[in-house]
Amino acid sequence: MESVRVGLIGWGTVGCGVIRVLEENASVIRARLGFPLELARVADLDLETPRPVPVAREKLTQNAREILEDPGIQIVVELIGGLEPARSFILEALERGKHVVTANKALLAHHGNELFEHAERHGGSIGFEASVAGGIPLLKSLREGLAGNKVDTIFGILNGTGNYILTRMTEEGLAFADALREAQEKGYAEADPTLDVDGIDTAHKLAIAGAMAFGTPIRFDQVYVEGIRQIDPLDVQFATEFGYQLKLLAIGRHVNGQLEMRVHPTLIPSSHVLASVRGAYNAVHLHGNAVGSIMLYGLGAGMMPTGSAVVADIMDIARDLASGVVNRVPPLSFLPENTQDIPI
Ligand code: HSE
Repeated sequence: MESVRVGLIGWGTVGCGVIRVLEENASVIRARLGFPLELARVADLDLETPRPVPVAREKLTQNAREILEDPGIQIVVELIGGLEPARSFILEALERGKHVVTANKALLAHHGNELFEHAERHGGSIGFEASVAGGIPLLKSLREGLAGNKVDTIFGILNGTGNYILTRMTEEGLAFADALREAQEKGYAEADPTLDVDGIDTAHKLAIAGAMAFGTPIRFDQVYVEGIRQIDPLDVQFATEFGYQLKLLAIGRHVNGQLEMRVHPTLIPSSHVLASVRGAYNAVHLHGNAVGSIMLYGLGAGMMPTGSAVVADIMDIARDLASGVVNRVPPLSFLPENTQDIPI
């Protein structure tokens, strides 16, 4: 394989992270793959706003079609977020025989089942590690490292913005709005931060990770969601005084043939390991019947951690392309007992 050519749609925070990881770690990536990755084109409607990671003018385009229609591009990376046109771009890329990497949790939560079926029909693959928990390799752990387990519990902190806000309110007594502004300035928040503060972003991620953990289709509409908007600095102050920390938790449990998926602010004893997860860090606790309990911890948002996850997916697909075996590890695999209409 001489090289694998990649087209990037979306030159935002995560797009910049992907470009920087590809550039800074090019020799490591090449050594691990045995061939280089070539960033062939970058599309974004806004080419004027200065970015922290520049791109050569001749690679830039405002027209994503130039990536979708380029027969030399094998992997399309979708980082524009939102449902449309992201969904149409991915469907078309797959129809054109390309493979896709996306960080778009909202899109996967709403249309993931359709997109994965489409990928299978067209012999393509979709990498989506970056859609849940930023830089933490949670989905790869569920799909590969824990493949021999029945997972019965997954819970944790899956939104960096929400955790940053609660941390700043707890430690500095900041008002909710000021802490949110800081999170936005640091590039953690969604373009529409209500998704973060109302718990919806966490629910998107729980729907995706829960489907992988429990072997079910993605069922976002059945996740109970409550956010942190109504939390007052006094709430966090009292929680601390009583020996607790307030955290926005995602909780998924498979108990007695029933699935439970919920997102809400939760009081955690200050001595619990999750209580010490600060700022934009995420942490996920999993329990599998063979492995027992494990914890994963790392930055759940931001340019470089999320870029790291996207690049890992690009490398996985590039390896598959070199070996000629696509979708070596299927994105979702259903457990027979969980594909019935089990109560949630
Ligand atoms: N807005 C998200 C968060 C970005 O704060 O966690 C990463 O998914």
